[in-house]
Amino acid sequence: MPPAPASPSTDWREEIAADEAERFEAFANEIAELQKKRARDRPPARALHAKGQLGLRAEFTVLDSLPDHAKVGIFAHPQTLPAYVRVSNGAGRRHNDAKPDLRGFAFKLVGVGGKKLIPGLQDAVTQDFLMIRQPALSFRSVDEFMLVLRHADNPLKLLAKMVGELGLKRTTQLLPQLAKSVGAPLYSVAESDYYTAAPIRWGAYAAKCHLRPHAPLTTALAKDNPDSVAADLGRRLSQGAVSFDFTAQFYIDAKHTPIEDPTVVWPQSLSPRITVGRLTLCKCDLNADDAQKTTSMVEELSFDPWHAPEEFRPLGSVMRARNAAYRASTQGRQAAAEMTVK
Ligand code: HEM
Repeated sequence: MPPAPASPSTDWREEIAADEAERFEAFANEIAELQKKRARDRPPARALHAKGQLGLRAEFTVLDSLPDHAKVGIFAHPQTLPAYVRVSNGAGRRHNDAKPDLRGFAFKLVGVGGKKLIPGLQDAVTQDFLMIRQPALSFRSVDEFMLVLRHADNPLKLLAKMVGELGLKRTTQLLPQLAKSVGAPLYSVAESDYYTAAPIRWGAYAAKCHLRPHAPLTTALAKDNPDSVAADLGRRLSQGAVSFDFTAQFYIDAKHTPIEDPTVVWPQSLSPRITVGRLTLCKCDLNADDAQKTTSMVEELSFDPWHAPEEFRPLGSVMRARNAAYRASTQGRQAAAEMTVK
């Protein structure tokens, strides 16, 4: 018999190392240097997820009849908020969609009340969710993430550094997992699941979030078009809206749903994903002026898991490292100011 689902718990804890803030600041500086180096004499792009395939208008609907523990912040009552979506490849360079890569999906809700987390942006009216196609990370720590990022352009050096710094055993675990993530078949955005992979606070509780596509999985995109992701989604959006369920999967205990270990896929048998919202990418003609303006405008925005109220604060070391890193990258590329009025 499979184990019965457990109740969401408020017993989650973060473990913050004494030297962490300093190390994460140094990582952010390193990321900013990489961003500058790649730009050469052009304006800097995002340090990661440099290629935005599309920027789109969307709507986010909070569903009715949520369980009490889910009724927090924007989820306190049913409502529909405008949203912007940016679909991306993960690399720090803009390259052919057919190349192996992680894939990103970020969305920004507009019209969100309450004080926000980032000093100086407390009056922003936005809340962002950043997602990838994996429900957990291959990296155990931010140090592993940075090691790979630092040498990503030079596979031989990367291998030597991994063996030197992580040891042979960990290298032989991590490398195949990374290869599997970046080499995953490229399905349509409309048919793909996306995950926050790392947790956030949900009031007194904690949760990981996920987008479940309404469209069924068919076949991977052909590799004959360097911009196959935009071409496929554009074709679909010209025919109608594209929708996803938005789910929350709640923390139950430190063993099964750890906050600090990003490699663990939280088991659905113990903590089922609850559908709390719906994200709908609006029907549009991507060749029309307004759609092209939206894509350009979205490209200038910054999507950041720390664009959130305290009750949805990002949790765990990977999330805390992102707090410094995203600010460094957005400042380096002079991103547009966060929206502060409704
Ligand atoms: C759970 C793990 C992670 C997920 C789901 C994630 C997801 C994403 C996504 C979707 C984007 C593109 C945002 C956009 O479209 O503007 C992005 C950008 C970025 N990510 Fe992450 N990421 C993760 C971990 C990290 C870590 C550990 C770091 C570094 C310490 C990092 C650094 C960055 C940077 C610098 C950008 C570009 C920010 C900008 O200029 O706007 N990410 N990430």
